[in-house]
Formats: sequence, structure tokens, C-alpha cells
Amino acid sequence: MSMVKRVAVTGAAGQIGYSLLPLIANGSIFGPGVKVALQLLEVTPVLPALEGVRMELEDCAFPLLTSVTCTDKPEVAFRDADLCLLVGSKPRGKGQERKDLLMENGQIFIGQGRAIAATAGPDVRVVVVGNPCNTNCLIAMRNAKGVPPERFSAMTRLDQSRAKAQLAQKAKKHWSTVKNVTIWGNHSNTQYPDWHHATIDGVPAAKAVADDAWLQGPFLKTVQERGKAIIEARGKSSALSAAQAACDHAKSLFTVTTKDDWASLCVLSDGSYGTPEGLISGFPCTTDGKGNWHLVQGLAMNEFSKQKATISWNELLEEREMVKALLG
Ligand code: NAD
Ligand code: LMR
Repeated sequence: MSMVKRVAVTGAAGQIGYSLLPLIANGSIFGPGVKVALQLLEVTPVLPALEGVRMELEDCAFPLLTSVTCTDKPEVAFRDADLCLLVGSKPRGKGQERKDLLMENGQIFIGQGRAIAATAGPDVRVVVVGNPCNTNCLIAMRNAKGVPPERFSAMTRLDQSRAKAQLAQKAKKHWSTVKNVTIWGNHSNTQYPDWHHATIDGVPAAKAVADDAWLQGPFLKTVQERGKAIIEARGKSSALSAAQAACDHAKSLFTVTTKDDWASLCVLSDGSYGTPEGLISGFPCTTDGKGNWHLVQGLAMNEFSKQKATISWNELLEEREMVKALLG
């Protein structure tokens, strides 16, 4: 009997969706031996465009793709889903910060959290991409009564990959050799990309880069502001790289990830490392390949790291306060 994974994608006719769906249909998350059924959600006026996406998916004749469902009803999109990728929400434009989207986008995640609780599969995992993704994830999690909160995560994988690329280029090495970068805090310009435990080609990153001023200044700023730089260059927010990161994040959940190169996931804080409890915040994580993550414990955080991470944790606390009426 062949296995079929049901993957729900919201905002499926958007620009991330357009890059993401072929990756999923090609086995990027569950691997080349696992068939996938796509369950696509859009708002009603966008259903005709989604129908076009469905036609294109059929026209690709992906060997692993078994079916494509298009709907404007969350309960239908999430029915029996093994994985829900919550992408659908408004992206920011030039001159906006991601948290400017909070009240408008936050509403979406109340109904979607409830619908996941009502109809998703018994072992569902939920990954939130739509911004501001940490707090949207918190809203969805708190409204999905009965779904264990550990099933929810938000995406800073793009920031982790961005940080790896910056470090590699500075050290004149390939990015595949960069390991153990952590993104602490929020997917925002307060995030703290932490290189202190990272290695580049087996050498501690600080030694390989040999430029502390660059690490503490331009490196941090470039990663924190990369989303904005892309919006300024493209006129639209990142999509190709966001889609790749969403697959990488989800794949990390469903394959074993070890301390040799941990995944930076935004997950529910239990207070570890001084992160305020109950936030969805970035942590270094290992995974067991069955959808479960564990925080990497025992890493040293120097004063610089604590100070930078605290700025981002405080921002998440502020965001939580702003949406407290939405938290179910
Ligand atoms: P987009 O505007 O191209 O597409 C979003 C789609 O979502 C649209 O088709 C829209 O109709 C749909 N949508 C809106 N409300 C919906 C709802 N209630 N249910 C279902 N669909 C709905 O935007 P995009 O470029 O694809 O970006 C999507 C989101 O992802 C944005 O919030 C963006 O900021 C965010 N993003 C996050 C990261 C990250 O690293 N976490 C990276 C890039 C983009
Ligand atoms: C990104 O990091 O590219 C996305 O979150 C889009 C944005 O608004 O910056």
C-alpha cells in the first residue's frame, strides 16, 4: 500500500504558493517515495486564479502528485491533513515592518486554527509562514483547541539560510559547509542570528571569518534586513527563497535533524535560555523525523547574545500583548 501525505497550503495562488507547490509535488518535503495530495485554500475572489494553478499542476504530470483540491473553505482544505502550511496572508510593502500586518493578518489565524482543530488529521503538523509569522502561529495555536501546541511552528528557516550564505561568502567557503546557526527570537528586524556555535567547514565561524566587527555589525544587519532588501529590489517580498525555506523547515520536521547541524525553528517557549514562556520564538532544535522537535539545551550565551536576543523576545511580548484579544 503506498502512503499519501495530505498537505494543505493556504494562499496557494500567491507568489510563494507558485514556487512552493511544485517543490512539494516533487517530493521536497516527504521524499521521493511518498505520494502527496495537495489541498489548496484561497479566498473566494482568487478561486479562478487557483483553478489556473491546478491546471498547471496537472499539466506537470508530477509522478508523486495524486490529487489537487481547491477550496475557499478552511475546513475542506485542512481535512485529514498531515501538514498544513499557512502561507495565505498579506505581505508587507515598501516602508512597512512585518508587525504592521499584525491586526489584519492575525484575524485569519483564528479561523484557521479552529478549522485545523475541527478537521485536520490526528497527527497534523502546522507551519506558519504568513507574517508576522511568530505571532500568527501563536494565534493559530491558541485557537486550535485540542491540538497539542508542539505541533505548531513558525518559519525562521529563511533567516537561518540567509545567515549561512552570508557567513560562507565572507569566509570564502560554500554555504553547505556552514552548520549550527541559530536565529533567536522573532522573524523580524530584531531577530538575532547567532554565529557563536556555528562552524564553517568544521572551523568555528568566528575564527573562519576572523572579523568580529563584521559579525556584530554588517552580518547581523544584513540578515535582519534581508527581507526588506528583497522588497526594495524586486518590489515584492521574497517568494522563491521563502518557498524553499518552507520546504526545508517542513522537511526538517519529517527527517532526523541532529546537533551536528540543528534546525532553527520558532516553537513554543518553555522558558529555556531566558525566552519568556508561551511565546513562539526561534530556538536551535533537533528533530526525530516523526514531526517532533526538541530544543538543543546547554548552549552558552554570552552577554552580547543575551542582550540581542532579549530585544527580540521583548518585541514578541509586545506583539502578544497587541493580539491578546485574538488568543482564544
Ligand atoms: P501573496 O500576496 O502573493 O499571496 C498571498 C495569498 O494569500 C494571496 O493569493 C491571497 O489571496 C491569499 N490569502 C489571503 N488571505 C487568505 C486567507 N484568509 N485564506 C487563504 N488565502 C488567503 O503573498 P506571498 O508573497 O505569497 O506571501 C505570503 C505571506 O508570507 C506574507 O505574509 C509574507 O509576508 C509571508 N512571508 C513570510 C516569510 C518568512 O520567512 N516567514 C518569507 C516570505 C514571505
Ligand atoms: C522575508 O523575510 O523575506 C519575508 O518575511 C518577507 C518580508 O516581509 O520581509
